[in-house]
Amino acid sequence: MLNALQKIKEQAAQTLANAQDSKALDELRVKYLGKKGELTTILKQMGSLSAEERPKVGQLANEVRASIESLIAEKNAALKAAMLDKRLELETIDVTMPGKAAPLGHAHPLSKVLEELKEIFMGMGFSVVEGPEVELDYYNFEALNIPKNHPARDTQDTFYINDNVLLRTQTSPVQIRAMEKQKPPIRIISPGRVYRSDAVDATHSPLFHQIEGLVVDKGVTMGDLKGTLEQFVKRLYGDHSVVRFRPHHFPFTEPSAELDVQCFSCGGKGCRLCKGEGWIEILGCGMVHPKVLSICGIDPEIYSGFAFGMGLERIVMRRYNIDDMRLFFENDVRFLNQF
Ligand code: DAH
Repeated sequence: MLNALQKIKEQAAQTLANAQDSKALDELRVKYLGKKGELTTILKQMGSLSAEERPKVGQLANEVRASIESLIAEKNAALKAAMLDKRLELETIDVTMPGKAAPLGHAHPLSKVLEELKEIFMGMGFSVVEGPEVELDYYNFEALNIPKNHPARDTQDTFYINDNVLLRTQTSPVQIRAMEKQKPPIRIISPGRVYRSDAVDATHSPLFHQIEGLVVDKGVTMGDLKGTLEQFVKRLYGDHSVVRFRPHHFPFTEPSAELDVQCFSCGGKGCRLCKGEGWIEILGCGMVHPKVLSICGIDPEIYSGFAFGMGLERIVMRRYNIDDMRLFFENDVRFLNQF
């Protein structure tokens, strides 16, 4: 029996040393120390031993058990350490590897310049409001002093939903909506999409963008209009910019004007960019017509105001020397990448 125990001890030492993983180790533990294990089987036979042999066998059996247990514990620790090493190796991050750059887009040139424009006007105390693109005939024309049969409607043909509902041709209807909603003082700009049934070419698109402006208060004069817009142009195109106001006609302003900027390319001499004019038209403006104020419930004897409207595409084209409006809408990244 002593021999048998010695053999178990040796065998266990060898097989335990060879165990490859914790599952194999566990199986070996059961094999040697389990209820039906080899050591237990021998201990069960101790009854048949003489009183003299029994303590010897008992002592050795205990030694063998202790030795197997400690071997298992050692091996267990070794296996765990090996597993951790392996994991660390597998999960190593090479911090010197080049990173993967996520391709990042940027704002469209129209959005970029619009943001700038908003900043300029907000800096002058304007707030930004929006109006609907699907608009009533009343707001788009009627209330702006453009009745049915007015010739101004010819140049602003649009897409009609029905006789009274259309895609707005200008942002000017937001003036009316603002005055209906808010009592003076009013100081707003309103950027947005507008529509006209124009054929697409280098300077026309059935969809484009305008920015409307409106100021109404007591004692607002043409001087305020000129000062505000001149300041705006200088902020947008630089302090050296020269502007002029040229008389014009709009049904909803009286008097009306167009604002030109002296050509940045030729300094007013006349060139290809300004088509020999020396000046480039930037926007339409004027003093809000007393009729329009009255329609909105604002007493023109007490209040006065000025308004202006400009095409965003035109301003951006001039800003970056872009000669074809279609480029804004074709989404060619070779064009868009340049901004
Ligand atoms: N809505 C006009 C257009 O589309 C532009 C305009 C002119 C707006 C004069 C105004 C203004 O507010 O006062 O042609």
